[in-house]
Order: sequence, then structure tokens, then C-alpha cells
Amino acid sequence: MKNNIAGCHIVDLPKVHNRAGNITAIENRLHAPFDIKRVYYLYDIPGGEDRGGHAHRALQQLIIAVSGAFDVKLNDGNNIQTFHLDRPYFGLYIVSGIWRELLNFSSGAIALVLASEVYDSNDYIRDYSDFIKFKNEF
Ligand code: TYD
Repeated sequence: MKNNIAGCHIVDLPKVHNRAGNITAIENRLHAPFDIKRVYYLYDIPGGEDRGGHAHRALQQLIIAVSGAFDVKLNDGNNIQTFHLDRPYFGLYIVSGIWRELLNFSSGAIALVLASEVYDSNDYIRDYSDFIKFKNEF
């Protein structure tokens, strides 16, 4: 599977500014380059904690730090790149087949994830050596 981190990038999301706060709206296919089939969010994460440590065979995601900050470390088997997310109007688009770790959560951070597929435990690759085999399969 040849997808690599060059296909992953920050998406600028619209921000409507108002005296009483801001609104960011995300529309299917417009800001997320896939059909959104699932939305979930990570919260109540202890400050400094890490999550992730897996890859997905098919799933594409857009990850947004809607509150607080964290780092997303991407690894395609050849290259590693870390993105620092700390604004609710930036999304990180992750193509399928990328090993990811979510690191250094600030206290109270919320990670909003828009996903291209419904939950499927078989889509996960949780063992790093299996991931490297998967990357070399095609
Ligand atoms: P997981 O994706 O493994 O989280 P992380 O890698 O960040 O620790 O999910 C943790 C648990 O949550 C796992 O047991 C399955 C469950 N889960 C769902 O039931 N539905 C979902 O959409 C997601 C993302 C997770």
C-alpha cells in the first residue's frame, strides 16, 4: 500500500468571526475530501497523555484540535512527520495506510475526528511489524 505522508496535509477550515465568538462549519466533500460517515471525539484525556499507535487499512480521517492542543506523529514506513494541532480551524487530513500517534495532549484538549468509514475493528493494524508488512504488500 503506497499511500505516504506526502498525501497528508493541513486543511484550512472556514472561520466565521463574531463579537460573541466564532463558528467553523465543515461540509461533506468540501473541507473533508471524503464522505463523512462517522464523527467521534476524544476528551477527558489526562494532560501529557498519548493515544493512537495504529494504522488503518482503508479509513481516511480529518483530525481537529477543537479545544487545546496535541501533536499527531505520522509514519508511512519510510518517512515520519509530526503536526502540532492547536487551532479549531485547522484540520489534519490523513490518508489511509498511515501509522499515527497522538501525543502530548494538553489538559482539557478535545480531538474531533471526521472519518470516511463506520467503525470496523478489522480496519485497524495495531502491530507495527504488521504495518510494515502491509506497506510492502502491493
Ligand atoms: P481506538 O481507536 O483504539 O483509540 P486509541 O487508539 O486512540 O486508543 O478506540 C478505543 C476504543 O474505542 C476501542 O475499544 C473501540 C472503541 N471505539 C468505538 O467503539 N467506536 C469508534 O468509532 C472508535 C474510534 C473507537
